[in-house]
Amino acid sequence: MHILITAGPTREYLDDVRFISNASSGRMGFALAQAALGRGHRVTLVTGPAAVPPPTGASVIHVTTTEEMLTACRQAFPDCDGVIAAAAVCDYRPKSPPKGKLKKTGRPLVLELVETPDVLAELCAVKEHRWAVGFALEADDALANAAAKLRAKRCDAIVVNRPTAISSDQTEACLLDRAAAVAARFQGSKSSVADAILGWIETNLARKL
Ligand code: CTP
Repeated sequence: MHILITAGPTREYLDDVRFISNASSGRMGFALAQAALGRGHRVTLVTGPAAVPPPTGASVIHVTTTEEMLTACRQAFPDCDGVIAAAAVCDYRPKSPPKGKLKKTGRPLVLELVETPDVLAELCAVKEHRWAVGFALEADDALANAAAKLRAKRCDAIVVNRPTAISSDQTEACLLDRAAAVAARFQGSKSSVADAILGWIETNLARKL
């Protein structure tokens, strides 16, 4: 298969030098890319600024903002069999970022933020015969929130993990299938969990192509 994987954080600039983002290291997305390559798949990896280098062997497209991630994914997706969206996408951007560097004024600064596009939902809207697997990072009511995301974004499965997975080598996750039923549970290093997720996809999604 040819698999599209999104990874890492995205950044949204407040001015020319400051940005909002999150603590995603890119490790989970890169572990998925490595596992897919190890299983003989072709990988296109669209990644935001990550803390670690991407695996060799993948076609890597570096992006910074959510809009850039969407553009790169839209271009790559038609040539792929499916997408795994492991990126920790920055959900908001300033409505009108000023040019240059914001100056202190001695008064509170109020920023108006607007939502960025949902990359996974946009891909699912045009996926046709392709499959799509999302990730859900949930602090509370994990399964219910993840099930709502699975339905709202119309993906074929969603991997639910906890905020403790961010920047760690270890993770604990479970996978909800299209019916939002718990279909698998994973625990261990990100590379072993990534390989198990790829195994699940090969058995349960890829065969239906
Ligand atoms: N995602 C995406 N584009 C976005 C937001 C999320 O592609 N703008 C993808 C993520 O890569 C992940 C899934 O959607 O596969 C869920 O992301 P998550 O951050 O858990 O949820 P959000 O949709 O951002 O919702 P919330 O922040 O309200 O929990």
